[in-house]
Amino acid sequence: MKRARYPIVATLILAGAATLAGAAEPAAERTMIDRGRYIARIAGCNDCHTPNYATTGGAVPEQQWLTGDRLGWRGPWGTTYPSNLRLALSRLSEDEWVHNARTLSYRPPMPWFALRDMDETDLRAFYRFVRALGPAGEPAPAWLPPGAQAQGMAVVFPSAGPH
Ligand code: HEC
Repeated sequence: MKRARYPIVATLILAGAATLAGAAEPAAERTMIDRGRYIARIAGCNDCHTPNYATTGGAVPEQQWLTGDRLGWRGPWGTTYPSNLRLALSRLSEDEWVHNARTLSYRPPMPWFALRDMDETDLRAFYRFVRALGPAGEPAPAWLPPGAQAQGMAVVFPSAGPH
């Protein structure tokens, strides 16, 4: 019984060593991508930018994440649509993404201030995760100014008045 254990332990150590030696850099990149996935989950990005994510408790396959939504958000700012981040980020370099996050503001209810205040490593991790998923989906509908009638469904903020 005791003797039989050693080959198993040796095999595990060898397997672990092979993984570490063979994939040092990809493992670091994987860590960044995992961190990006975690941010998409817990920072609310999926809640608005992934169709049905909030209403299904997150039961949306990862391949459909962050493809934007046709559900509008209507308020005094007009009607906004969560952008397709899979397409938007595919057009930006990582440094442009960080620069935009630090300097741009967007219409409500996009929490642009969360991007402004996000740790730079987290911003880069989010970018790498989205780029690893690759571009997908269609662009979200364009913003409509106040008073313009939206075609599809919209979440109406109380201050927007009757519609
Ligand atoms: C409450 C809903 C909501 C949440 C949560 C949210 N967004 Fe947004 N986001 C929007 C809407 C709506 C727009 C479009 C704003 C506009 O038209 O100005 C937008 C726009 C953006 C844009 C601009 C893209 C472009 O087209 O240039 C980026 C980048 C973005 N969001 C990233 C994020 C990230 C990253 C997170 C998570 C940290 C996040 N958003 C969370 C609703 C949301």
